[in-house]
Parts: sequence; C-alpha cells; structure tokens
Amino acid sequence: MSLKNTSDSYGLISKNLHWILAILLLLNFSLGFVMGGLERGPLRSSIFHFHKSMGILLLGLIVLRLFWRLINITPVPVAHNLIINKISKFVHYSFYFILLTVTLSGWIYSTARAGPVDFFGLFYMPAIVEKNDLIGQVAKEIHIYSVYIFISLVVLHVIASIYHHFFLKDKTLKRMWF
Ligand code: HEM
Ligand code: HEM
Repeated sequence: MSLKNTSDSYGLISKNLHWILAILLLLNFSLGFVMGGLERGPLRSSIFHFHKSMGILLLGLIVLRLFWRLINITPVPVAHNLIINKISKFVHYSFYFILLTVTLSGWIYSTARAGPVDFFGLFYMPAIVEKNDLIGQVAKEIHIYSVYIFISLVVLHVIASIYHHFFLKDKTLKRMWF
C-alpha cells in the first residue's frame, strides 16, 4: 500500500491522519462537552488542562494534514454526480476551515483568560493575545459556535459515508479504510 494518495485511493499517511484525527477530535469534543458541568476542583482543572493540550496537539495535526492534502493528489470521486462532488469537496475543505477556527479560538480564549497555555506540562505555548476579558468572551463564543458547526459537519459526513457504503455500495468508505 503506498504512502501517498493515488488517483484511485488514499495512501497510508492520509488514512492514518484521517482516523487518528477522527478519534482524537471526538474525544476532545466529548471532554469539552462534559468538563464545563463539573464542580470546581482538581478533577475539573486536570480535564481542562488535558483538553487544552490535546486541542493544541490537534491544531498541529490539522495543519500537517492540510499541508499533506495540498501537496498531494486527491483521489477522484467515486460518484459521477457533479453537484454531489462539489458539495463533498466543499464539506472536506470546510472541515479544515472550521477546525482551524475551533482550535485557534480555544487557544485565544484560554490565553486571554488565564495566560499562556501549558502543553502537557512540557512547555508553554506563545501568548498570542494579552489577558483581556472582552477578547476572551468573544473567542469563547466563537469556540462554542464553531465546535457545534464542526459536529454537524461530522454527522453529515458520516451519513454520506454510510449512504455510499450500504446504499450505493461503492468503494468510497473502503478506500479510506486500511
Ligand atoms: C479540535 C479541538 C477542540 C474541540 C473539539 C473542542 C471542543 C470543545 C467543546 C465541545 C467545549 C464545550 C462547549 C460548550 O460549553 O458548549 C469546549 C470548551 C472549551 N475549550 Fe475546547 N475544543 C477544542 C480545542 C480547544 C483548545 C485548543 C483550547 C485551548 C487551548 C480549548 C479550550 C477550551 C476551554 C477553556 C473550554 C471551556 C469553556 C468554558 O466553559 O469556560 N479547546 N471545547
Ligand atoms: C471527526 C471526524 C472526521 C473528520 C474531521 C473527517 C474529515 C475528513 C476529510 C477532511 C476528508 C477528505 C480527505 C482528506 O482531506 O484527507 C475525509 C474523507 C473521508 N472520510 Fe472523514 N472525517 C471524520 C470522520 C469520519 C468517519 C467517522 C467516517 C466513516 C464513518 C469517515 C469517512 C470518510 C470517508 C469514506 C472519506 C473519503 C471520502 C471520499 O473519498 O470522497 N470520516 N474525512
């Protein structure tokens, strides 16, 4: 199996990045979702810390994946419907755009509110903004709204994959699998 994509299928690097990111993104989404409701205390702070570090790691992986997509060919769509193919391409690019928004707004929000983000206790991320309540409030709203747009896209994306696999019975899902 080749490392790079071919016009027919995704390569090993794209496949690994796709599935590792899918798992880590859904994990971080779930953590973000439950952590706000926890009582203040050590457990809540640890989960916040983990959520932020994971978010920064995800930002790195997303940039890497976008870079890999841009320097690589993308397999030609299995279906031959021009409109569906355009929507599919639009959704794929929207993922990158919305995920950069989710991660950058999270980073800005945390920095504006509590100062530089500690990455898994290893080092501090640069403070991209100064401490400021207004910036923090706006970035928080953006983080929350963009994360819900992201999860709606995932639902659409998964329904499309299931439709291809079980109804159209084509190889769309198989060529993203190992
Ligand atoms: C792709 C990665 C990320 C996902 C999927 C994600 C998801 C979420 C979700 C679902 C929430 C709860 C929203 C709500 O209350 O309805 C949340 C909250 C939060 N996120 Fe993220 N997040 C990500 C990245 C980040 C990053 C990079 C940071 C900071 C470095 C961050 C910091 C926060 C903070 C501090 C909150 C708490 C908001 C509050 O209730 O005060 N997130 N995130
Ligand atoms: C957090 C979750 C996910 C994200 C962010 C995501 C994102 C993407 C993106 C951006 C692409 C385009 C290829 C690329 O740029 O590398 C893609 C392709 C694909 N994804 Fe996902 N995905 C997620 C989860 C899933 C899940 C759960 C499934 C299956 C049930 C799935 C099935 C597929 C398939 C079959 C393709 C290939 C589509 C084609 O050939 O046109 N994805 N995904």
